[in-house]
Amino acid sequence: MTDTTTDPDTTRPVAYPQDRTCPYHPPAAYDPLRTGPPLAPITLFDGRPAWLVTGHTLARRLLVDQRLSTDRTRDGFPLTSPRLAGIRGRRLALLGVDDPEHRAQRKMVLPEFTLKRAAALRPRIQEIVDERLDAMIAAGQPADLVPAFALPVPSMVICALLGVPYADHEFFEEQSRRLLRGPLPADVRDARDRLESYLGELIDGKRTSPGDGLLDDLIRDRLEEGEIDREQLISFAVILLIAGHETTANMISLGTYTLLENPGRLAELREDPALLPGAVEELMRMLSIADSLLRTATEDMEVEGHTIRAGDGVVFSTSVINRDGTVYPEPDAIDWHRPARHHVAFGFGIHQCLGQNLARAELEIALRALFERLPTLRLAVPAQEIPHKPGDTIQGMLELPVAW
Ligand code: HEM
Repeated sequence: MTDTTTDPDTTRPVAYPQDRTCPYHPPAAYDPLRTGPPLAPITLFDGRPAWLVTGHTLARRLLVDQRLSTDRTRDGFPLTSPRLAGIRGRRLALLGVDDPEHRAQRKMVLPEFTLKRAAALRPRIQEIVDERLDAMIAAGQPADLVPAFALPVPSMVICALLGVPYADHEFFEEQSRRLLRGPLPADVRDARDRLESYLGELIDGKRTSPGDGLLDDLIRDRLEEGEIDREQLISFAVILLIAGHETTANMISLGTYTLLENPGRLAELREDPALLPGAVEELMRMLSIADSLLRTATEDMEVEGHTIRAGDGVVFSTSVINRDGTVYPEPDAIDWHRPARHHVAFGFGIHQCLGQNLARAELEIALRALFERLPTLRLAVPAQEIPHKPGDTIQGMLELPVAW
């Protein structure tokens, strides 16, 4: 990696990633990155240098630049945690493939994730949300909102959409947890193996007795037609199942925590529920739970006075990008009225989140119902005692004890 600038302040690399202190603000250690230039050198946990994109305009330019690859099997693909060495070189559908292969894969699943499909799913999402709240209230307080509500809601929704039996949720949630938080490379490898064999068996069973989920459609229309093979279909299933529940679960838990910690903003929402769609967007921006988007440069690139060399790792910090003060005045303030929509919390470009319409619908329905049904909802222990996730994975609450 070559650096062509001479200013020592812009060349002193910050260690990346780091843990958040407050679960809904970027780590204080990123402050120099927030005030510095839009592209900065960083050092990854293994001492490897990489580039961090921190500016909003630059991020949206580079996220559509085809010279940056998401292929995890490439030499130089940046690892943000030691545990990821466990799946280095493993292929990943959609998020891990570049165009033109990516375009063909995305086309196969896109119709299931349109705004119209998400709207059609709303009544079912509402039922799931109501059932979970009934069960949580019946079980009594205090409750841990993560296993009682935040996790099962998106898990049930993605199971229904894919045609995966929710009865197996403990198994696949545990494997997702090991995949995303390890701690050891061996855990991650083993979790991926177990998920793949589970989904492989599920797919084999569906070939003889089909159901009515997206996986069944893909078996009938793509697998049996020879357009994709069994291994590719398993890879689709792995990413859809994991991305479909872990992310939204973290947004519900961290979103709830943030609202309870900002009672003035919560009161505004209660007074005017029409603010909710904008509030979901602002929470997405503020919380930026998928904080590190990872790429490798496939050729030399001149960017902002630096030379990014072929093979260099390029990381996009969504939490820093989404607090760019030139785009979002007073970026650390929660403001339901600001136009937050251009955030990059769902990514940008060809890999922009496939499930974003679904996620928005789930968040709106879940947060509205939670605060309507439990108007006195509060944290059951002091906020600073509640553990949140470490910086090298998707951000969210490890637990969320609440009372009402
Ligand atoms: C609030 C919840 C969610 C957040 C914050 C989120 C965030 C993201 C981000 C940042 C990316 C782009 C990653 C990159 O460019 O490196 C992405 C991609 C993706 N997301 Fe989501 N996501 C959420 C919910 C969902 C849901 C519900 C699904 C449903 C299946 C989903 C499926 C995917 C898939 C398949 C991709 C890869 C798309 C591609 O490469 O074409 N996500 N997501």
